Amino acid sequence: MIIALNNKCNLTKEEFINYEKELNNINTTDRLILCPSPLNIALATSSNYSLGSQNVSKNDNGAHTGEVSAKQLKSFNVKYTIVGHSERRQELLETNEDINKKLKLLLEEDIIPILCIGETKEEREQNLVEKVLLTELNEALSNISEENKQKIIIAYEPIWSIGTGLIPSNDQIEEVFNLIKTLLPTNKILYGGSANENNIDELKKCSVIDGYLLGGLSLKPKNLQNFINKNKI
Ligand code: PGA
Repeated sequence: MIIALNNKCNLTKEEFINYEKELNNINTTDRLILCPSPLNIALATSSNYSLGSQNVSKNDNGAHTGEVSAKQLKSFNVKYTIVGHSERRQELLETNEDINKKLKLLLEEDIIPILCIGETKEEREQNLVEKVLLTELNEALSNISEENKQKIIIAYEPIWSIGTGLIPSNDQIEEVFNLIKTLLPTNKILYGGSANENNIDELKKCSVIDGYLLGGLSLKPKNLQNFINKNKI
């Protein structure tokens, strides 16, 4: 299982140092990937997890104030990068075209992208899930070689599920994962959105899930350990 931790914009320097000590005590055989907020990447020791980032610039090194390039991430030992998180699509108006540029720059540096896709509540109600997800995938993956496409981890994160406590039914998850597999039959696919130690008993019945992208839970190492343990039983 892949367990990717999205700290989002949380944890000051001191808080991160303490948090990371706890994270280093997590007992698991899963592949843990920690995606701290950008400054904390420099503090990460990566002793019990692989290092990820939450974003990358759509441009290479150069005159792009405030950005962090794929080359810079690589120089900090970043192995994975979340791309196209719905918060960035909504708050920063990130487009599929931007996401496509980011994927290409990451793959050039051998950083594995974790590509987030997902529909809004309204889109689900209007039966647009398939259309929305296929558009996000096709546009994001445009002109990327088959070999490189296979390296990308997909994270299905229904937007109505992120931080809300709501999760899709296992049938709904399976339907979406099977849709993704029509385009990407061998890629690893994660589920993200309010996954926690209370709903893992239900989620784990869903055999298509290769792992999880965790937001809120990533900040609570004890609950995270519980989640990991329950997922194994
Ligand atoms: P959540 O966030 O687990 O807090 O819902 C998941 C995510 O946004 O990646």
